[in-house]
Amino acid sequence: MFAKLGAFVACATSLVVATSVPSGFVTTKGTHFQLNGKPFYFAGTNSYWSQYTTNYDDINFIFKRANTAGLPVIRTWGFNDANATFTAGGLPMYSAYNSIAGQIVYQTWADGKVTINTGATGLQHFDKLVSIAEQQGVKLIVTLTNNWADYGGMDVYTINLGGTYHDEFYYNPTVIAAYKNWVKTVVTRYKNSPAIFAWELANEPRCEADGTRNLPRSPSGCTAATITTWADQISTYIKSLDPLHLVTLGDEGFFNEPGNSDWAYGGGDGIDFVANLKLKNLDFGTFHLYPDWWSKTVPWATQFVIDHATAQQQVGKPVIMEEYGWLSVAGREQNLGTTSNYTRVEAVGAWQEAALEHKLAGDLFWQFGLEKGLSTGTSTDDGFTIYLENLTESQPLIYNHVAAIKQWL
Ligand SMILES: *[C@@H]1O[C@H](CO)[C@@H](O)[C@H](O)[C@H]1NC(C)=O
Ligand SMILES: *[C@@H]1O[C@H](CO)[C@@H](O)[C@H](O)[C@H]1NC(C)=O
Ligand SMILES: *[C@@H]1O[C@H](CO)[C@@H](O)[C@H](O)[C@H]1NC(C)=O
Repeated sequence: MFAKLGAFVACATSLVVATSVPSGFVTTKGTHFQLNGKPFYFAGTNSYWSQYTTNYDDINFIFKRANTAGLPVIRTWGFNDANATFTAGGLPMYSAYNSIAGQIVYQTWADGKVTINTGATGLQHFDKLVSIAEQQGVKLIVTLTNNWADYGGMDVYTINLGGTYHDEFYYNPTVIAAYKNWVKTVVTRYKNSPAIFAWELANEPRCEADGTRNLPRSPSGCTAATITTWADQISTYIKSLDPLHLVTLGDEGFFNEPGNSDWAYGGGDGIDFVANLKLKNLDFGTFHLYPDWWSKTVPWATQFVIDHATAQQQVGKPVIMEEYGWLSVAGREQNLGTTSNYTRVEAVGAWQEAALEHKLAGDLFWQFGLEKGLSTGTSTDDGFTIYLENLTESQPLIYNHVAAIKQWL
């Protein structure tokens, strides 16, 4: 298949722009996605751990099981950064390990310089992951860095380049250049792959990160406009390298409404969902939903879904509920020391129902789990995992949800 890029046809009175993409590339049309000339509404899932799984039969199995269950879109991490030498007590607290030997790591830092690992534990590993996705016919949303300390992320760049604050990632020119170097490496490497659904600028960008594991927020350097400006700059850069794949921000979808006293609507974290969605080179919007972590109720969360569906209509671009989860009983007890009268099926089911009713373009639950079939045994449970084999949850939240969405195809 070939790319016919930006074929311009000039007419007497108007300019008709006919852009076609290679077969298997996802595009947008108004408020929904398109694939191979047809509307592409989907349910999908998150599997960040496929990124460091080094058994390729396992990755093959994960993608195959997800796709067979009707989940053709999988989000995973396209970053993994560390210092070449681990400093105990250093920031960001990406991991407790002292040596990166044998671990998957894509970029290492020493003396203010980065080395990109193109070997078997580096980009050749991600090559295999992308190629397995191609074989299994799944589409990947690839996240290019992390707001948080897990697997490195923003602060690894900033601290190694002499920065002090978390939010410098968005405006320190040296840090931006280093991040663009990584973006260019990844985006150009896979620009022809139909397995890439979209490039995602960052996982959950905010002005601030974790008070213990990350660099602090600067006293007054970051507002919602800071991240919007950064998102504009980076998305424009990605489109210059790879005009055919979709680009998204990867934020949690917070609103920036002056005077709104609800923190998720007041803009304090540096996200203006509507302004970002309007950016020329961001093709669709994302939001995340964790009322457990956010001290919010299930009905509040349902309204958050509806408010994003409204923004989808207003701006006229697709919006996806990109991560959403509700703690298990044990997970809630362990993490919050509380109980809830909502089961996961009730809570998550309510948000899925709202997403369907208001026709969100897609959703990816957090996170995909398998009890059997992996060389490592049962896959990781962070308190939010939905195991495909557990029909009490997977029948309503995966199989029935997938069937409801398929009616639109
Ligand atoms: C990483 O390296 C930087 C620069 O030397 C240092 O300030 C930081 O503490 C290190 N972090 C870790 C986790 O090793
Ligand atoms: C949970 O409790 C709240 C407050 O008591 C109530 O409004 C809600 O309907 C209950 N939900 C379920 C699913 O029982
Ligand atoms: C399956 O999910 C239900 C509902 O959340 C839970 O109560 C049960 O323990 C799970 N079963 C297994 C085998 O994990």
